[in-house]
Amino acid sequence: MSETLTEELTEQLPAINLPPVVRLPRIIQGLGFAVNRRMFVNRMMDKHGRVFTCDAPVFGRTIVVGDPQVAKQLFAANTDAVGNIQPNLSRVLGKGSVFALDGTEHRVRRKLLTPPFHGKSVKNYEQIFEEETLREAAAWPPGQSFETLAPMMRITLNAILRAVFGADGAHLDELRRIIPPWVTLGSRVAVLPMPTRNYGRYSPWGRLAKYRRKYDEVVRRLIEQVAADPHLDVRDDVLALLLRSTYEDGTTMSHSDIADELLTLLAAGHETTAATLAWTFERICRHPQVLRRLEDEVVAGGDEYRQATILEMQRVRTVIDFSGRHVYAPTFQLGEWVIPRGYSIIVALDHMHEDATEFTDPQRFDPDRFVGRRPPLAFLPFGGGTRRCVGAVFAHVETDVVLRTVLRHFAIETTTAPGEKVHPRGVAYTPKAGGRVVLRRRVTAL
Ligand code: HEM
Repeated sequence: MSETLTEELTEQLPAINLPPVVRLPRIIQGLGFAVNRRMFVNRMMDKHGRVFTCDAPVFGRTIVVGDPQVAKQLFAANTDAVGNIQPNLSRVLGKGSVFALDGTEHRVRRKLLTPPFHGKSVKNYEQIFEEETLREAAAWPPGQSFETLAPMMRITLNAILRAVFGADGAHLDELRRIIPPWVTLGSRVAVLPMPTRNYGRYSPWGRLAKYRRKYDEVVRRLIEQVAADPHLDVRDDVLALLLRSTYEDGTTMSHSDIADELLTLLAAGHETTAATLAWTFERICRHPQVLRRLEDEVVAGGDEYRQATILEMQRVRTVIDFSGRHVYAPTFQLGEWVIPRGYSIIVALDHMHEDATEFTDPQRFDPDRFVGRRPPLAFLPFGGGTRRCVGAVFAHVETDVVLRTVLRHFAIETTTAPGEKVHPRGVAYTPKAGGRVVLRRRVTAL
């Protein structure tokens, strides 16, 4: 491009106009983010308003958004102008993951992934959710306090494994062993700066690579088996869908990209929902009136209050605190500001959920605020726009069925103990003591 043309184009660009800039030294901002991201964001918003500019570790120059109107505009933006945040989870999941894709490639992959995680398909998984809950519940110690997070992880992992690979079976046992430690380590590593050199096999990256090699071995065998299935064209599991899919030029997805995408669904699809469920038990055993209404509703056969309780859960204990984008356009108009190329923009989902201008008395756990009402714009537990969580419906129905099944078969003891602290597990936030409850099996199910 000629120099004059570049100058002319540059002249036509609107002048950069950043939201209020945090003036603290970079190292202090980095520490604030690393030690307690949520607290740092809340403090900065109190000081600078609901949209501010800062230096974030890993993401660099970053605009943080806590204003729902601005978030709405970001989520609706042209995907060529803003793509997924860089770096993102694809650095642990691989370049074949939907997290790695932008623009047309992302749109095509979403078109493929959406049907198995929507409406009618999810209805077919309801029985799986119930079966997995009952299978896990058989081992719960009656009358003794226990952590719900670990069993919820097993329920949600088994459910997503069955949705992704079709029939249940021993062939999935190896994945049941490999995935949990991979996810625990992967979600910690995902939020750390990437080392510029390899720190050896005992470093977190070295250990993650070892799990990955095992995963690749197992999944390669599973992919080959399904690819050779004479009934491949009538199977409705996600793996079969990916194997059958073709790009516009007639080529198919490589097996290595399929392995990355399956790992994405298994990882993204179980820890988040398990954390939401563990928080649900942690909250309802501290709110006897909510618990009583949930039980009465199960007896009456309704679900409106339970649905509202799940939404309120996701508001008061948001398990994923932000959704992020990267500016690719030379400049991007965000509300009244003009953001330059290369900046990250993150939407502070949890901050909006706790904002008193959006939710009256935000600290109160009150499912009634969602009864008979559409959730407001500020309610974004699954992010938004073209990248909104692909598993949102799956997660909601799964949470609903697991909760209903537990309420039917167990009486949950209430407690006056203080609430559990919020614990950052890396990507998701979980109850610090694992969402402990005391349950008693009912002689007759509700
Ligand atoms: C309560 C449970 C869940 C929560 C809170 C949650 C939250 C989120 C959030 C906040 C995002 C980012 C959206 C954005 O960038 O705007 C996301 C993306 C994603 N989620 Fe979930 N999620 C949950 C369950 C699931 C499940 C069950 C699956 C799989 C079936 C799943 C698969 C994904 C995938 C593949 C993406 C990437 C979407 C893309 O980049 O296009 N999630 N999720």
